[in-house]
Amino acid sequence: MALKWGILGLGKIAHHFCNDLLLVDGSELHAVGSRSKDKADSFAKQYGASQSYGSYQELINDSEIDIIYVATPHSSHLEYAKMAMGAGKHVLCEKPLAINFDQVSQLVDISKENKVFLMEALWTRFNPVFEEVISKIKNGAIGIPTYLNSTFSFYTDIDPSSRLFDPNLAGGSILDVGIYPAFLCYTLFGMPQSIAATGILSEQGVDLQMTALLDYGGGSAQLMSGLQANCELTSKIYGTEGQLIIDSRWHEAQSYQIKKADKNVTFKHPSIGRGYAHEIMECMSCIEEGQLESSKWSHEDSLNLISILDEIRRQVGVVYPIEQT
Ligand SMILES: NC(=O)c1ccc[n+]([C@@H]2O[C@H](COP(=O)([O-])OP(=O)(O)OC[C@H]3O[C@@H](n4cnc5c(N)ncnc54)[C@H](OP(=O)(O)O)[C@@H]3O)[C@@H](O)[C@H]2O)c1
Repeated sequence: MALKWGILGLGKIAHHFCNDLLLVDGSELHAVGSRSKDKADSFAKQYGASQSYGSYQELINDSEIDIIYVATPHSSHLEYAKMAMGAGKHVLCEKPLAINFDQVSQLVDISKENKVFLMEALWTRFNPVFEEVISKIKNGAIGIPTYLNSTFSFYTDIDPSSRLFDPNLAGGSILDVGIYPAFLCYTLFGMPQSIAATGILSEQGVDLQMTALLDYGGGSAQLMSGLQANCELTSKIYGTEGQLIIDSRWHEAQSYQIKKADKNVTFKHPSIGRGYAHEIMECMSCIEEGQLESSKWSHEDSLNLISILDEIRRQVGVVYPIEQT
């Protein structure tokens, strides 16, 4: 029996995700839900979903759905993931799983109480290049890794009506794209001994740019995210015997390089579709095995990552309205 998916929120990422969902055997796009019935109908037609709903509640009430993919702005992940798990659905929720440690903890508790699978959609973790990079680093390909430089920044006009700049939707670069460098750093080095972060805030109070230095005793990392600077989207990991470069755009890379002395070797590992297929397959295999979490990106990993982002946000001075009450 195919795993039946329901898509909650039909924005930009929902389109990319559904294109890849259609490539995965054993998964079926069953239903889509939007705040607009017209939008849901046309989305369902485009991707061949059997059902379309004009509200998220109706989507969640569909008894045939096994797993809901939450693809709404950050500030609403808690509410919709809670609703879905409360109705007994498994959940794959877009990053960040929720906006702060307290919210992520609530979701993890509900997953355990309701015995449903829950995973943060940190798709990079499952992409073939990333899997290879982690394994190469663990096996000493560049000796002992001692320094990471990771950036995720692009330029976009400031538009207060966009979710990226709206504090009520938990906008800003840290939660939107800074999560990727923080994720890479955490995956390589674990929890830091200390964090020093600085940033630039918009008039609305979300961060336009963030730079953070993370200290690991024997190593360190420099992370940067932004919405106002067009940067090269590579990540560079330096070790005692060489360097490993994850090529641009590194969070969805198809290749990486290892440089040692005067030798430079490129390794290519193409992903399926745009790369979302790999997290979809991870959900399928975890659910098939009756797991409530993935061992590759666990609840603890989501909790640790959001605690790093909480501390960076605290130092940069980003407090969302929902956190002020
Ligand atoms: N993994 C990735 O590569 C990737 C890339 C981009 C974004 N993301 C993540 O995906 C999530 C959504 O991002 P997106 O770029 O797809 O955003 P988007 O294009 O703005 O779409 C978000 C959708 O959420 C729904 N929504 C519910 N409440 C809303 C509200 N108050 N304001 C606006 N929309 C609302 C809307 O769907 P309906 O109108 O259909 O109800 C909207 O189309 C975020 O968590 C983001 O970080 C991930």
